[in-house]
Amino acid sequence: MDSIVVTGGNELKGQIPIAGAKNACLTLMPATLLSEEPLTLTNAPRLSDIVTMTTLLRSLGVEADVKEDGRVLALSSQALTSHRADYDIVRKMRASILVLGPLLARDGVAEVSLPGGCAIGARPVDLHLRALEALGAELDLRDGYVHAKAPGGLKGGRVEFPLVSVGATENVLMAATLAKGTTTIENAAREPEIVDLADCLRRMGAQIEGDGTSSITVQGVDRLGGASHPVVTDRIELGTYMLAPAIAGGEVECLGGRIDLLGAFCERLDAAGVSVEETSNGIKVARRNGHVRAVDVTTAPYPGFPTDLQAQMMALMCVAEGISTLHETIFENRFMHAPELSRMGARIYVQGGTARVTGVEKLRGARVMATDLRASVSLILAGLAAEGTTQVSRVYHLDRGYEQVEQKLRGVGAQIERVQEP
Ligand code: UD1
Repeated sequence: MDSIVVTGGNELKGQIPIAGAKNACLTLMPATLLSEEPLTLTNAPRLSDIVTMTTLLRSLGVEADVKEDGRVLALSSQALTSHRADYDIVRKMRASILVLGPLLARDGVAEVSLPGGCAIGARPVDLHLRALEALGAELDLRDGYVHAKAPGGLKGGRVEFPLVSVGATENVLMAATLAKGTTTIENAAREPEIVDLADCLRRMGAQIEGDGTSSITVQGVDRLGGASHPVVTDRIELGTYMLAPAIAGGEVECLGGRIDLLGAFCERLDAAGVSVEETSNGIKVARRNGHVRAVDVTTAPYPGFPTDLQAQMMALMCVAEGISTLHETIFENRFMHAPELSRMGARIYVQGGTARVTGVEKLRGARVMATDLRASVSLILAGLAAEGTTQVSRVYHLDRGYEQVEQKLRGVGAQIERVQEP
């Protein structure tokens, strides 16, 4: 198994290219199921989660041609051979549930394994199911699978989510494009990945209004066509690398970055004393006067502070001056990085959904373990600022969501390498 070894202490200087968004790509790929004509996605990230989604789509009969070293995905769903998403794939990646809406919309039938729990919480899919029922789907849960039918096709309906869900909004948005009549989605997620999906669906011929707000209207059409669509920039990868010079010192320009993707996060960085400047190529980040102040953070759906950047922000707060409080409101068990950061000398007290972090002058390198995707990168960020060497094991989590993390950080002067553990 691979691990990553970081030796802290180097200031960072230079540019880091930001890839296309994992979470956008994972919802754009199943959109191919809505049309018999080809869908080409450009600016795709090269990640193991994308490989998993490719495997899932192929198992349904999708032809997937991975070109330009993984940057371009040419997908064709001309002839589907299966409507079943198997447990073995779904348990690896929850985003597999995103094939449910498109399969139902296209052929009126789908069988998708229930994903079960995951490290950061229970994460049910009830909102996905209720929303599809509002469009006339008949669902039966047995043998660990959702067996879904829509014999006369889906019909437009009114969906009002009791809480904001990115995935459920995506699933019902895709399904509604081919449903008969009008669908309204209230309390919809507003994430940039939703807007990117709506843009792609519009290119395919869908009629969608209101994406980016909490009220989306979809006018169903008889068929969708082919399209070519560039995947939006990965705002979580962007935020992660923006934190690198804030933690380690120096100045880094994140190429392709845009402040509008991360408004609340940039505001917190600014309050912490980190300068965030938009340039013609992206976003340039450096500490304003050499040190960072503690700030409080509360995660929330977009445009709030993203839960997917909470672990990385905690790494910064570990070396900030003062005491900060981080409230996690999206997932119930998302502080697993805290005990690992404590092994590096951080002072963190967790109670329920709140972590109180007292900044220390220096972290110390240690052997630590990655528990999920974002937790693993927070340990690498902490390692950049720690005295000595930090070894992060179980980095397969990292490869789900960060491409070439060692190369990108080495490119700005970090001392970091991947080693094979015996
Ligand atoms: C997506 C992102 C993930 C991010 C999360 C929140 C992808 C592939 N993943 O996950 O990286 O952390 O948004 O920004 O895009 N919930 C229910 N019932 C449901 C669905 C969700 O109770 O049917 C709850 C979840 O347990 C969670 C909250 O709603 O507490 C938000 O989850 P959701 O927005 O659905 O997250 P995902 O789409 O799974």
